[in-house]
Amino acid sequence: MHTRNLILTALLTALPLAAQTTNTTTLIDVDHRATTSLDGDWHYIVDPYATGLYSFHGDVRADGFFMNADPALAGNRPVEYNFATSPTLKVPGDWNTQDPKLFYYEGVLWYQRDFTYTPKANTRTFLHIGAANYQSHIWVNTKSVCEHEGGFTAFDCEVTAALKPGKNFVVISVDNTRKPENVPTVKTDWWNYGGLTRDVSLIDVPQSFIDEYDLHLSRTTPGLIEGWVHVEGAAAGSPVTVAIPELKATVSVTIGEGSRATIALPTKSLSPWSPESPKLYKVALTAGADALTDDMGFRTIEARGIEIVLNGKPVFLRGMSVHAEAPYRTGRAVTQKDIDTLLDWAQELGCNFLRLAHYPHDERMTRAADKRGILIWSEIPDYWALQFANPAVLAKSTQQLTEMVRRDRNKAAVILWSVANETPNTEARTKFLTTMANRARAMDASRLITAALLVRNKGHNESGEGKVNTSEPNAKVVDDPLGEALDVIGTNEYIGWYERTPESADNTTWDIKYQKPLIMSEFGGEAKFGNHSKATPPARWSEEYQATIYEHQLPMLNKIPQLRGMSPWILMDFRSPSRLLPGTQDNFNRKGLITENGEKKKAFYVLQKAYKNKTVGKAE
Ligand code: GCU
Repeated sequence: MHTRNLILTALLTALPLAAQTTNTTTLIDVDHRATTSLDGDWHYIVDPYATGLYSFHGDVRADGFFMNADPALAGNRPVEYNFATSPTLKVPGDWNTQDPKLFYYEGVLWYQRDFTYTPKANTRTFLHIGAANYQSHIWVNTKSVCEHEGGFTAFDCEVTAALKPGKNFVVISVDNTRKPENVPTVKTDWWNYGGLTRDVSLIDVPQSFIDEYDLHLSRTTPGLIEGWVHVEGAAAGSPVTVAIPELKATVSVTIGEGSRATIALPTKSLSPWSPESPKLYKVALTAGADALTDDMGFRTIEARGIEIVLNGKPVFLRGMSVHAEAPYRTGRAVTQKDIDTLLDWAQELGCNFLRLAHYPHDERMTRAADKRGILIWSEIPDYWALQFANPAVLAKSTQQLTEMVRRDRNKAAVILWSVANETPNTEARTKFLTTMANRARAMDASRLITAALLVRNKGHNESGEGKVNTSEPNAKVVDDPLGEALDVIGTNEYIGWYERTPESADNTTWDIKYQKPLIMSEFGGEAKFGNHSKATPPARWSEEYQATIYEHQLPMLNKIPQLRGMSPWILMDFRSPSRLLPGTQDNFNRKGLITENGEKKKAFYVLQKAYKNKTVGKAE
């Protein structure tokens, strides 16, 4: 214990502490690599004043007072912490739902655990973090190995040089303090669950290894799988092979510019991936000493006029929005059971599509969607009023986009990258998000780029200012300039909840500027399960009121010519710090069709009937 504390002391002296990301990468297909899991119980220390990071004058700790356990180093200063005798938290998992004292905690919390390691020749080792909300600093055996900002994307830090044979330890400080310059910024309608919220593991790879690839079905040449493979540390000319044994298809090429090999793999009788037949193929990739397999589906997705076209055929997205909130247990959804429960409910509802709100979810979710044939909208948390004029914020947003695309670019289920939700129509915002949309398209031209836009009433701007045009009180307009940069328009509206009555949907008109596919990415209202109303119209907060909203929404939406999908808000009630109505909300947003305890509200059956009978959406 003593040595560990000593080592931690040294750690802090090396600590540049501004919120940032350094020395990280994102290895892909990690769940198909041999890994050493570091999940389990980790000691933790709650450090509300960041005492371990900053001195009493707020500068980066130079002497490492907080972590100092070596009298020689610290003189006769007292040692004021001890991981070994500190309580433990489960990793992966948020800290808020594990310890009632941490329910509202926002700040720095330190994680520490020991592990044994046996170095292997010609091997590099990475510490893989599935996600850590929000700002994390990582040390292995006193060496500062990396820092990462962003709470919902995976990252990997090389620890080869820091490891030693036998006993090792890792320390991670995680800070979920909300800041205006963060992504997301200070206000969100979801709980700011902090911690090491997804799997942590060690990954061994050869000196040069496959760290990224993109393999997708060509939109122009039937059966051709095209893309590239990047081999970190590989010299030009070294071999790369991609094979799909089931299709007797193999291609061997050599590495060219930038450690990348271009792939063109013709196949015969490939069965394209779709919700009806989510066919996955075992794909084997080799590059020198490195070998990797992946389970991949191949499909094409395009926007043609106002159609979303999957494998050459128009498709309608019957979906739901969902947060990464764990059913029953609440807190961050991390286990396969959490994911399967949410997907079981979505499929019971008749969904072929899910909007993963408002941040990338655990990889188990996109893997499971691949297996089950559920089309996915994946989003980065450019949510509400980011600091759009701040270049550092654009860099953070781009980093999160890069990490999201990198992890899931080979998941056939993922068809839409969303760069934002409900952002104000300002020049800075439009410039920022247009850049983001173009960067997403540059990273991945095989998918569709979208965002959830605000809609306005005729005579009003998006934020509702201005005079209602008395002649058309129910006239909705979709002309947010950001729509120009998108392939698919997402729009959120809450007719019958935040404005007007459920019935007013019946005579609401939609003036949509864009001849592009439109997804109604949010609509709905709240209901407390078991709260019933016999009144006509039914009382707000009752299941009948929520059902009425759906009964009037679906026919209205069907009248929108560009409508090619919907993801009502929301599959399951989820925790939110801004939902405070006692006895009804109690820190939960109650717009779910299902409660966090799995209770189905009346509206669940209204939508299920429409989805099962395909009475919503254009005939496919
Ligand atoms: C917004 C927002 C959601 C929020 C929802 C609501 O549109 O995008 O994050 O939870 O509305 O108000 O319930």
